[in-house]
Amino acid sequence: MTVLKKAVGDDPAPGAIQDHPPERPMVSYQAIRKSFGETEVLKGIDLHIKPGEKITIIGPSGSGKTTIIRMLMTLEEPISGVIEVDGEPLWHKEVNGRLVPG
Ligand SMILES: Nc1ncnc2c1ncn2[C@@H]1O[C@H](COP(=O)(O)OP(=O)(O)OP(=O)(O)O)[C@@H](O)[C@H]1O
Ligand SMILES: [Mg+2]
Repeated sequence: MTVLKKAVGDDPAPGAIQDHPPERPMVSYQAIRKSFGETEVLKGIDLHIKPGEKITIIGPSGSGKTTIIRMLMTLEEPISGVIEVDGEPLWHKEVNGRLVPG
């Protein structure tokens, strides 16, 4: 599976959020793993998307493209790893300075 990124230009992209630092990812997948039963689908995905950045995920059928997007909508839970949106973990909460499953 491959992720293609369109570079962000100097102008803020449509949809970019004004007070979000342009270099800080809006969406960040960190070491994301996902299996369905015996089928290991995502084996440690790292993907960082800046505000307004456009990406395309391409790959063979069954390679996990839809699973990646479903995780962002909280329709699938990763087995391990952290997904952050605007710096906030989707599936975790911070307890005593550590991220634990939410
Ligand atoms: N809810 C589920 N239960 C069991 N297996 C699943 C589930 N969702 C996805 N899978 C399996 O995970 C793998 C990845 O599926 P996914 O739908 O993410 O692939 P895809 O890259 O989007 O494929 P396509 O190009 O056909 O849309 C496949 O082997 C699929 O059968
Ligand atoms: Mg799909």
